[in-house]
Amino acid sequence: MADKLIIFDTTLRDGEQSPGASMTKDEKIRIARQLERLKVDVIEAGFAAASPGDFESIRAIAGIIKDSTVCSLSRANDRDISRAAEALAPAARKRIHTFIATSPLHMEKKLRMTPDQVYEQAKLAVRFARQFTDDVEFSPEDGSRSDMDFLCRVIEAVIAEGARTINFADTVGYGIPELYGNMIKTLRERIPNSDKAVWSVHCHNDLGMAVANSLAGIVIGGARQVECTINGLGERAGNTALEEVVMAIKTRKDYFNLDLSIDTTQIVPASKLVSQITGFAVQPNKAVVGANAFAHASGIHQDGVLKARDTYEIMRAEDVGWTANKIVLGKLSGRNAFKQRLEELGIELESEAEVNAAFARFKELADRKAEIFDEDIIALVSDEQQSHDNEFFRFVSLSQHSETGEKPRAKVVFSMGGKELVCEGQGNGPVDATVNAIESQAASGAELLLFSVNAITTGTQSQGEVTMRLSKAGRIVNGVGSDLDIVVASAKAYLSALNKLHSKAERLNPQL
Ligand code: KIV
Ligand code: ZN
Repeated sequence: MADKLIIFDTTLRDGEQSPGASMTKDEKIRIARQLERLKVDVIEAGFAAASPGDFESIRAIAGIIKDSTVCSLSRANDRDISRAAEALAPAARKRIHTFIATSPLHMEKKLRMTPDQVYEQAKLAVRFARQFTDDVEFSPEDGSRSDMDFLCRVIEAVIAEGARTINFADTVGYGIPELYGNMIKTLRERIPNSDKAVWSVHCHNDLGMAVANSLAGIVIGGARQVECTINGLGERAGNTALEEVVMAIKTRKDYFNLDLSIDTTQIVPASKLVSQITGFAVQPNKAVVGANAFAHASGIHQDGVLKARDTYEIMRAEDVGWTANKIVLGKLSGRNAFKQRLEELGIELESEAEVNAAFARFKELADRKAEIFDEDIIALVSDEQQSHDNEFFRFVSLSQHSETGEKPRAKVVFSMGGKELVCEGQGNGPVDATVNAIESQAASGAELLLFSVNAITTGTQSQGEVTMRLSKAGRIVNGVGSDLDIVVASAKAYLSALNKLHSKAERLNPQL
């Protein structure tokens, strides 16, 4: 019989540590629901001690998610572990994931602790966490740069204290597949009680090898849990991409011989949702979830695929959730049809008032756009939720003028703290003029780090989805806005980013 590979998703924790990817509670709940539909085994919902907002999000997710285990990260101290336990209290199945750095560099320079102190703290943390749940995971942070003898000592001790999962972290993406896999193999061979725990891989993509390292940890090292994120979201170059590792295991079952509980048809919807909420666009040639992943441009390939699909395709697009853009609703669709489509898309709005507000927006859009696709509905709900979550700045209307040979001008009406303002600006282009107009009143002084526009569906009548990444005083935030008019979408994205800056939700990074 094939072993099962446990899929541990950390989009909401390690993914969120990516600069600008921080999410609101409602956004996290939407992603958690989608992860449950995807049937991931474990959802790492956040780091409870990071901020009151993180705590509340984990608690809400713990109360909602029934089929996946819900997990919180915690540093190896009583306060963090107690916060994690408190946030996870409503969960049907809960896990506490505690970690401490074990590499000489991290122990000496970051923790300023001796190896003996780290050893004691790791043991105490696991012992304390076990008071709240049997399901405790321990990670030696920067494991791949740690001394093997020291790792053996610490890991044997934490397993003896009751850690059920040992997650071997390649924190800085330093691993090489064969070496990383062999480290896990050696640890499992040398540690006498290693068979009392499930071994897990956790890889970062700094050298572009996160997926390869994870697979080597599974094949060579015998790991049976993989930690990953949707679209490979994560700090710096990101984490192991869930969609890549899952489809590798599934497509090459002949080689890996492992079972998964994942519903792969939910992969693309999950990818789109995470991309839309975080504003991190998916590159077109990204494996599995990129727009070109199943597109055959060359005549020879098209001809081959038409004759026999498997000449050039090793996976089927529909198996990972790609569907042709479907016209689902139109101008004449009623509230019931709209509500039913929301349900089919797995979008659960909290109150009838929210359904009404989303429906009003849908009607507005349907007046301007004859064909409404699923992607349009997802975008309008996201927009609606963003404005509900942080309402200090709110878009009202915009007019702009651009003409060859003239400097573009924009007039923007928006509300700031409930007061409606009218402002004007000029710029090098219509978006620049719009941002200048907003800044003439908002005076945020933030620096624009990224401005990107994506078409939500195909064709020139598609809505544009704009991401604006702003930085101020060391904080980085992403704002996302969508509209048929990309200048309006830009204004919405800019105001949404200002809202995030304004909310001042400070969070601790667990690894600093
Ligand atoms: O990369 C890392 O080391 C982590 C740990 C907290 C598991 O994310
Ligand atoms: Zn990590």
